[in-house]
Amino acid sequence: MSNNKITSPIQSLKNLNVGIIGSGTMGSGIAQVAATSGCSVKLYDANKEALRKAETTLDKILSRLVQKGRIDAPEKLRIQNNITYVTQLKALSTSNLVIEAIIENLEIKKKVFSELETYVPNHCIIASNTSSLSIASIASALKNPERCIGIHFFNPAPLMRLVEVIPAIQTKPQVLQDTTEIITNWNKTVAVAKDTPGFIVNRVARPFYGEALRIYEEGLADFATIDHSLKSLGGFRMGPFELMDFIGNDVNYTVTETVFTAFYFDPRYKPSFTQKRFSEAGYLGRKSGIGYYKYDANGKKIEDHTISPPIVSDTLKTQIFNRVLIMLINEAADALFLNIASAKDIDNAMVKGVNYPKGLLAWADQKGITYCVTELDKLYNEYHEDRYRCSPLLRKMAKEHKTFF
Ligand SMILES: NC(=O)c1ccc[n+]([C@@H]2O[C@H](COP(=O)([O-])OP(=O)(O)OC[C@H]3O[C@@H](n4cnc5c(N)ncnc54)[C@H](O)[C@@H]3O)[C@@H](O)[C@H]2O)c1
Repeated sequence: MSNNKITSPIQSLKNLNVGIIGSGTMGSGIAQVAATSGCSVKLYDANKEALRKAETTLDKILSRLVQKGRIDAPEKLRIQNNITYVTQLKALSTSNLVIEAIIENLEIKKKVFSELETYVPNHCIIASNTSSLSIASIASALKNPERCIGIHFFNPAPLMRLVEVIPAIQTKPQVLQDTTEIITNWNKTVAVAKDTPGFIVNRVARPFYGEALRIYEEGLADFATIDHSLKSLGGFRMGPFELMDFIGNDVNYTVTETVFTAFYFDPRYKPSFTQKRFSEAGYLGRKSGIGYYKYDANGKKIEDHTISPPIVSDTLKTQIFNRVLIMLINEAADALFLNIASAKDIDNAMVKGVNYPKGLLAWADQKGITYCVTELDKLYNEYHEDRYRCSPLLRKMAKEHKTFF
């Protein structure tokens, strides 16, 4: 550890008292992570039913881990005993760290934060798990906004390795340092991101969906062909349409629209009418039984064996894969160009946050930076749309014969 480390007012960054607000999908997962690491967790929700559900779900999850031999029965009990379910926000008054995971609504979050600040000690770090709101705006609700930070877990929190940590412009360096240490102690990989829309993952991943939808809309290929191209040639675990069906077209469309609006309508993030219509029609994906594909009651994809698979040329598959990949690389390079995160954190985020087979900047090095610029310029020259503009960083690197790593 470096000598210039600032000393934390929190006595020990291990076995902390952690408060969690919201016991839904994310809050209950984060509670499990913190409790597993030995923290004493108070999980609060305004809705008693949600708390009861969180408790029974955790019991089921831990029992399954015992059955699989991943943990033993005393460990299950230890984790459960580390969590107290509380119905009053005031019960979080002894916390060193509070993570909020309630409804994605700025006014409600701000109201909860300003009430919380009246109960917790001065040194307590107050964090939000928001996916799309600015941390600066949430922090502004606090009398002491320097203690506020974004801690963005991915779903399911206990399984996904990545956590994005987002300091706001108000955040004290000490708070960033302590938060990074705490989350690392929780056995997670931290990627530090600038407080900009979509942070790292939800920004850099946009072309995976957007360019795939565009290729479909141009009539170049159907959903299955696009998915097959990305999986077979790129090694992605799921194709873009399978993934959108998995996430839910309503959720994925909303994220795209939010990012597009937050970027002052930059055409690079433009949502697609195809996905909007699927969402409006209730073709949400796995959860509604139909999306780009059909699903059975267990959410398993139904293969239609009456239709023979289309015969697709290798040239078309390569063209599809290269086009999506080059747009992803451009987005990652531009995130680096604009100092959203370090090259290492951008690559780590995509591999550990959304299971990409490789970091996009490492992929760019492998493909060759000049190749990336040429391919982007080809697209730009064909369409004359700002969406296909090459990142200035890639262009500069190509001129200087540089690589990312
Ligand atoms: N679901 C995801 O994939 C995901 C991933 C990363 C981040 N997030 C973010 O995490 C947050 C929570 O998302 P979620 O999917 O867990 O939501 P959820 O709907 O599953 O859970 C939210 C919980 O908050 C409770 N709640 C709402 N208002 C409250 C209040 N004023 N006080 C106390 N409790 C309140 C609700 O009763 C509910 O139990 C959001 O900010 C979301 O953007 C979600």
